[in-house]
Amino acid sequence: MIETPLTKILNIRVPIVQGGMHWVSYPSFVAAVSNAGALGILTALTQPTPDALRIAIRETRKLTDKPFGVNITILPSIDTPDYAGYAKAAVEEGVRIFETAGNNPGPLITYFKSNDCIIIHKCTSIRHAQSAAWHGVDILSIDGFECAGHPGEDDIGGLVLLARAAQELKKPYIASGGIADGRGLAAALALGAAVMHTGTRFLCTVESPAHQNIKDKIVSSTEQDTVHIFRTLHNSSRVFKNSVSQEVVDIERRPGGAKFSDIQHLVDGQKGKKVYETGDPEAGVWSAGSCVGLIKDVPSCKELVERLEREAEDIIEGLEKLRVRRTDAKL
Ligand SMILES: Cc1cc2nc3c(=O)[nH]c(=O)nc-3n(C[C@H](O)[C@H](O)[C@H](O)COP(=O)(O)O)c2cc1C
Repeated sequence: MIETPLTKILNIRVPIVQGGMHWVSYPSFVAAVSNAGALGILTALTQPTPDALRIAIRETRKLTDKPFGVNITILPSIDTPDYAGYAKAAVEEGVRIFETAGNNPGPLITYFKSNDCIIIHKCTSIRHAQSAAWHGVDILSIDGFECAGHPGEDDIGGLVLLARAAQELKKPYIASGGIADGRGLAAALALGAAVMHTGTRFLCTVESPAHQNIKDKIVSSTEQDTVHIFRTLHNSSRVFKNSVSQEVVDIERRPGGAKFSDIQHLVDGQKGKKVYETGDPEAGVWSAGSCVGLIKDVPSCKELVERLEREAEDIIEGLEKLRVRRTDAKL
């Protein structure tokens, strides 16, 4: 077993957190992750209303007696969601672990702190992580450039970002982005992280609600099959490379650039939802990290978590064997 300061704080058996995934983090999937010994995370905004989130939390609790969290993502949107309402519903339902992402989580942090919750905040730079720590966040989730979803605008890969986190951060941190196997978990621990975090790897499990075609598509992909959209709008997002994301990039790159209204019809969230439901990988844009290139199968959450743990333990043990103890005679 691998025990870290965060396995104790989060009350999980293995140092693995499943990142909140819009249209994917539904109760039965999240419960499967938590039952496997990792931390499952529901996504608040996947539910149409705060009351629907209450129901999803109750459903999850029926399926697992293990801890799970709720993600609240604050991103630029046309109709601002009722973030405070989602937070209140989750706290009233007894959730104590929250993953926040995006800008200005200040009011949510204050509310969660006053309710004794543990807050994990996603950060894509050290400066962002220091500011979140100053605002009272308990755990920093450090997202390298490889990650699915929003990698920020600094383009710093996980290797450097996590080593910088080790130099600068006083609070515990989670390694996120590009981690899909035990090598990644061992590397995350070596870089000072107390837990690994992944979305894309869990997306491709038996219990993930994504259509089988999408899982098969991931298995047959390489690390070159993702692309960034919204780069020119300074809201970069790593998604799977398909005809729709390519069209978005082409529009963004045309002379004079693009406004959000020029691409809005292509990036409509309902089209992304259709991808997972119908299994048509060309139906819209869908988040995926460059670790799609590392994914070669569709295991159950239990198989995956056990495998990540076993592989990481073997690697840590193997590294120990690399140490040569010099005897006085050889010196
Ligand atoms: C399908 C999918 C949907 C996602 N949706 C969200 C979301 O709604 N909010 C969020 O904060 N992160 C979201 N993410 C990002 C993940 O929580 C996590 O940070 C990311 O997947 C880590 O990078 P990795 O995929 O390389 O492991 C999503 C990722 C995927 C793959």
